[in-house]
Amino acid sequence: MSYEKRPYILFGGDYNPDQWDERTIAQDMKYFREAHINTVILPVFSWASLEPSEGQYEFGRLDHILDVLEENRLHYILATPTSAQPAWMSRKYPEVLPVDIAGRKRTHGMRVFFCVNSEKYRERAAAVAARMAERYGGRKGLSGWHIANEYGTSCYCDTCQRRFREWVRERYGTIEEVNTRWHTSFWGRTLTSFEEIMLPTELNDDYRFYPAVELDYQRFKTDSTIECFENEYRIVKAASPKLPVFTNISGYLKKLDQFAMVPHMDVAGWDNYPGPRDPRSLPALKHDIMRAAKDGESYYVAEQSPAQQNWQPYNKLKRPGELRRLAYQGLAHGSDSSLYFQMRQSVAGQEKLHGAIISRVGSDTTRTFREAAQLGSELEKLGARFVGGRTAAEVGLLFDWDSWRAAELCSGPTKDLDYLEDVRRFYEPFYIRNVPVDILKSSASFDRYRIIVAPLLYMMKGDAAERLERFVRDGGTLVTTYMSGYADENDRCVFGACPGPLRRVTGVWVEETDALYPDECNALRWTDGDSPASYPCDLLCDLVHLDGARAIAVYEKDFYAGMPAVTEHAWGDGKAYYVATRPSAEFLSFFAGRLLASAGVRPVLASSGQLEITRRDREGVSTWFVISFDEAEGYVELGGEDFRNLLTGETLRGRTAVAPGDVLVLGRDAPAERKI
Ligand code: GLA
Ligand code: ZN
Repeated sequence: MSYEKRPYILFGGDYNPDQWDERTIAQDMKYFREAHINTVILPVFSWASLEPSEGQYEFGRLDHILDVLEENRLHYILATPTSAQPAWMSRKYPEVLPVDIAGRKRTHGMRVFFCVNSEKYRERAAAVAARMAERYGGRKGLSGWHIANEYGTSCYCDTCQRRFREWVRERYGTIEEVNTRWHTSFWGRTLTSFEEIMLPTELNDDYRFYPAVELDYQRFKTDSTIECFENEYRIVKAASPKLPVFTNISGYLKKLDQFAMVPHMDVAGWDNYPGPRDPRSLPALKHDIMRAAKDGESYYVAEQSPAQQNWQPYNKLKRPGELRRLAYQGLAHGSDSSLYFQMRQSVAGQEKLHGAIISRVGSDTTRTFREAAQLGSELEKLGARFVGGRTAAEVGLLFDWDSWRAAELCSGPTKDLDYLEDVRRFYEPFYIRNVPVDILKSSASFDRYRIIVAPLLYMMKGDAAERLERFVRDGGTLVTTYMSGYADENDRCVFGACPGPLRRVTGVWVEETDALYPDECNALRWTDGDSPASYPCDLLCDLVHLDGARAIAVYEKDFYAGMPAVTEHAWGDGKAYYVATRPSAEFLSFFAGRLLASAGVRPVLASSGQLEITRRDREGVSTWFVISFDEAEGYVELGGEDFRNLLTGETLRGRTAVAPGDVLVLGRDAPAERKI
């Protein structure tokens, strides 16, 4: 699956002109020009107006809008409108509506409110996609296809029940194999027929549904969604083979396994809505996950909010400069776009208070509009320079949806386990130091990395353990942690101690794991070298025995005081570390610094202050991004060679000041011409 990368950064976003009269649309065109918008996405939610009754299509209005967009030299990404089926469809074919986990048949009125396995839904979705593909597939303004919107609904209807049984049969073949994989001898759950397999609906506070079944349900849900996506993908791809086809992934990533899903798309597209209090490392990590989805290829940020959101508990305004910083953060991590929800603010509905580039004020003088327009002019200036560019990293971090789900599905050892948050904590010290990190699927090649961090690698899949051993034997540095090496792909725990298949390489075994209350902590004392320091740790404490490794930090409290809390194992030419508890950010920063120094891995550029610095390379041309998240001035060390500030044309060298909140985009060559 390949397509030609657009020779410019996509800038614009969701446009819903169904709501507007001609005068407003004409005003939008003027504003779009002023803001250097080059791309809009439409008509995401227009199925009801495009197909007002079954098989009756009315494309006149959309034809006209596309004409207007083309007259204004705008590109558009056409969205199949299939995330919100028309009311007549839900009424005529109630099977398209989902059934929730409590068995309630849901009513019409929401979006993404359909059963992904409904034959009728798929038939009607394919039909509207086919009409659109046929009508618009060759239009000159068309620059891509966007399928549906933020998939992720769970459904427990009879169709899903039947399809789940088929899915299980296809995966495991015989009911005996299912019994083995699901270890049904526990609690007397042995199955004698596929017909006895039930969807995991019995969730309550006391016991979780059988986790192996829930895990397979989640896989089934991802596979069903892939089928649903492909149902439309095939059609629009045939009509526009050179254009990218994708769907926008919800920023709440857990809903669907994107490492399984994105390979079916031409490009990953995701919706980036960081909360105002999220650490800046969280969107950075999610960007890096998206870059990993197609093994390092660039991706799209399909949505961001240009101003305040409306669905957070407290909807902070975006601070001055924040729109620009967040846009560049995406571009810095591998995005080829900065797209927003939405271009013009709605006057009613659930999202009437959600910000937009053109607010209800209706003017081009608003702060948000001015900031967007400034960004637009900068992106236009940057042209195609880093579009499709890649990032070179020497640190890899293993990330795995199955580990995420399965670890959080465990009853015990703590209800507070939050995989994404803990992974972020292990990612952060590298990110803060401006050391690029590649997120790695467990099947990725480990060869080019010097350090691999495998936090909470609960599930060991395929030959990952052997390849990690080889990585260390050949001189790599591996870090793994508590909640690692527990289970196989069916959530059956290893027979023997954790970290299971990582025991040899880590040189430790875990006898027990203590869970700490939220108001409790232990501490670890660094014992390696002359500066003994103490750092808090919390959540979980593994009681670890050495089996070849040596302790480099020990617990300070409780009956396991003095037992290893962090270990180091020399193995072949490399080293493996086991972090047995969740340490404070201070410890992780210190620890990462030590690993980086001994592996000889350096930041992209030396700097001071809260600056994010990355580099993207394309065909021998490098672009550096320097983004200040600081309230004070910082600096970046550019060394003896000249850099060009691609936004201002200035030549820079040596120690260069970065104003609070500012962004520098740097190159070493003349800026590229704009080519649209
Ligand atoms: C999601 C949806 C959009 C819109 C935004 C609002 O990402 O895809 O349609 O509802 O949220 O933040
Ligand atoms: Zn269903």
